[in-house]
Amino acid sequence: MTDSPPNHLAPVYSQWPLDIVGAEGVHLHTRDGRRILDLYGGHAVAALGYSHPRWLAALESQAKTLLFQSNAVPLDVRSRAATRLAHFAGLGLDTVFFVNTGAEANENALKLALRITGRRKVVAIEGSFHGRTAAAGAVTWGAAQKWYGFPQAPFDVEFIPRGDLVAIERVIGTDTAAVIVEPVQGVAGAVDLGSAYLTALRARCSETCAMLICDEVQCGMGRTGYPFASNMHGVAPDMITTAKALGAGFPCSALLMADHVAAHLATDLLGTTFGGGPMACALIETVVDIIESEGLLANVRERSRQIRETCIVGPVESVQGAGLLAGLRTRRPAKDVQRELLERDILAGTSGDPHVVRILAPYVLSESHVAQLRDTLATLAP
Ligand SMILES: Cc1ncc(COP(=O)(O)O)c(C=O)c1O
Repeated sequence: MTDSPPNHLAPVYSQWPLDIVGAEGVHLHTRDGRRILDLYGGHAVAALGYSHPRWLAALESQAKTLLFQSNAVPLDVRSRAATRLAHFAGLGLDTVFFVNTGAEANENALKLALRITGRRKVVAIEGSFHGRTAAAGAVTWGAAQKWYGFPQAPFDVEFIPRGDLVAIERVIGTDTAAVIVEPVQGVAGAVDLGSAYLTALRARCSETCAMLICDEVQCGMGRTGYPFASNMHGVAPDMITTAKALGAGFPCSALLMADHVAAHLATDLLGTTFGGGPMACALIETVVDIIESEGLLANVRERSRQIRETCIVGPVESVQGAGLLAGLRTRRPAKDVQRELLERDILAGTSGDPHVVRILAPYVLSESHVAQLRDTLATLAP
C-alpha cells in the first residue's frame, strides 16, 4: 500500500471525480481509459477544443521567436493582436489594453470610468459575476455575503433587477460613473438579458453620461455565435472586457475602449507586467484567425440551434442562453443531472441556478456530439 503524497494546494475548490491525463479535439482522456466529451471547456476557456494544430504551431513558433518582453518594448505581435481584435469586434472600440484575467480587465474598466467621470457610483445587475478582486468583487451579486472579505467596496454600488426597465430610469443617474453588465450572464446560468433591456441600458447611460461596460469575459469572443454578445444585441458599449476564449487556453484578457475613453489615457495611467506579452498576443491573433477562417461563428450558431431543437428531452424542460453559452433547465437538481452525464462520459457544468446545467462547449463541436448529448439526456430520468 502506498501513502498518497501530501497535498500543498489551497483547499478552496470543490473538484469533480476526474483524473485527466490528456485531451484531443473535444475529448478528455482519463487515466482509466475513458474518453469524455467535454461540453464545459474549463469554464469556457477551451473554445477551440484541445490540441488545435494551428494553436499549437503558434505557441511553439512564438516561444522560439521571443518568449517575453514587457510593454516597455514595442512588439509587432502585440500591435497585430490589438488590430485584429478591434477589427473582429467591429464596434468602434479601437483601443485595446491587454491584461491577464477577467477580473483584472474589469478592474481597469471600472477604474477608468470612475476616474473619467469623477463620479463614485457603479450600477450592476442582479445575478452578475465579474471576478474576485476588490472592484470586480464589489459589483458581483452576492459576493459581499459569501466571500468578498474586503472591509468595504472601493466605490458605491447599486444592483438592479434583470429586465426591470423602471429600475434603469430610477437608479442610473448623473451620479453614476458606469453600468457593468454581462449581456448574457454566465455564472447565473446562461441568462440572455436581451436586446430590449441592453438597448435601454445604453440609452440611459448616454442620457446620464455614464459609461456602459459590457463584461464579455464569458459571453464574448464568439461564444454566442457573434464576435461579441454586444454585436448580437446591436449595442455599442463604451468598453468591453473579455478573457477566457480570447487565448483559448493561454491566460490573457483585454479591455477594448471607444475613442472618447481612450482620449483620457496617458503614460503610466494603466499598467501590467505580463499583460500583452508576446505569447498571449500570438495566441490572440491566432484564435481570431481560426474563428474567422474556419467559420466557427456559424458553427456555434448551428450547434446552438441543434441543442435548442433536440435537447429538450429526459430531465430538460427548456434551453436558455445564447450560442454555446447554453443553459439546460432541468426539472431535477442540475448537479444530479451533471453527475449522471459525467457517469456516461459527458462533462457539463452547473451554475448559480440550481436547475441549470451549463454548456460551454468548444466552437468546433460537431453535429454528432450534440446528438450524443441528446441521446444521453434521453436515457436519464425526467
Ligand atoms: C462574466 C465574467 N466576468 C469575469 C470573470 C472573472 O474572470 P477571471 O476568473 O479570469 O478573473 C468571470 C469568470 O468566470 C466571468 O464569467
